[in-house]
Amino acid sequence: MENNKRPETMERITNNELAQAFIAEQVEAVRNQVGDKKVLLALSGGVDSSVVAALLIKAIGKQLVCVHVNHGLMRKGESEQVIEVFGKALDANLIYVDATDRFLDKLAGVAEPERKRKIIGEEFIKVFDEESAKLEGISFLAQGTIYPDIIESDGVKAHHNVGGLPEEMEMQLVEPVKLLYKDEVRVVGEALGLPHGMVYRQPFPGPGLGVRCLGAITRDRLHALREADAILREEFDKNGLAEKVWQYFIAVPDFKSVGVRDGKRYEGWPAILRAVNTVDAMTATIEEIPYPILHHITDRITHEVEGINRVVMDITPKPIGTIEWE
Ligand code: XMP
Repeated sequence: MENNKRPETMERITNNELAQAFIAEQVEAVRNQVGDKKVLLALSGGVDSSVVAALLIKAIGKQLVCVHVNHGLMRKGESEQVIEVFGKALDANLIYVDATDRFLDKLAGVAEPERKRKIIGEEFIKVFDEESAKLEGISFLAQGTIYPDIIESDGVKAHHNVGGLPEEMEMQLVEPVKLLYKDEVRVVGEALGLPHGMVYRQPFPGPGLGVRCLGAITRDRLHALREADAILREEFDKNGLAEKVWQYFIAVPDFKSVGVRDGKRYEGWPAILRAVNTVDAMTATIEEIPYPILHHITDRITHEVEGINRVVMDITPKPIGTIEWE
């Protein structure tokens, strides 16, 4: 593939000035490549696709059509933020597809992790295909490919590309950030005016909460997981941990234990809290969260989230525990 090697002379983008120069260069390159044609982008709301969207909106405005597929496994408030930032603030051409029922119906009763991933990946492509078939005159497909994706496309992370689109989609690719490292993508995103929280968010797996609602997903347990995760994120934000800890989340297993609430027997699921630090996700260490914060998070989750009656903490480094539970 041509142009897939980062030139040795390319300076690392570390500040607004360098980011602006990169943006100006890419805006021109995209305009030259695309002309007056339309470009389609699957916008998950993750860092890479969001930065590509903002860059392309700047370059070609309404010639960009963004499709946001809500697979029902997003974190609390995520799809809403995509609509707010891209649909409203940036006035993008945004198609929002709420495919929650489709995904959850397909996943019903499926407990095996890799089958869950496969179903989510395949269904995503189907929904995206259906939406793009409704559109006319699309000549280009934009993707948030970044440099590590190119370097690592040797199969190691093959299972991670849930948003991967079928090769038979006969469209030319627009990949404006494909030579950038993640930290550079973030600097460029801020220079484009995206919210700080969107650009510096922690990694989130493509199959979303689907791999954290352990075993066969049910709507009530998924709801409990989403609420508990939102509390965890809120408390990490408040306590200055959100940007200190690389990845932190809740997983909810498919079993209950006995507890007491309001003087009565209360059976509920445990919320498993995991907070890890890593450089490349190949190995990970455990962040030592101060006990007062853990007590507060436990108190909030067990009182505010219907269905959860315990909070436990996973202090297993990787290896031997992977970061996600499935
Ligand atoms: P593991 O669990 O393998 O995770 O230690 C390493 C990093 O990859 C993320 N992860 C995924 N990302 N699709 C993704 O896009 C996936 O299926 C997937 N599984 C794990 C995980 O969150 C961590 O950052």
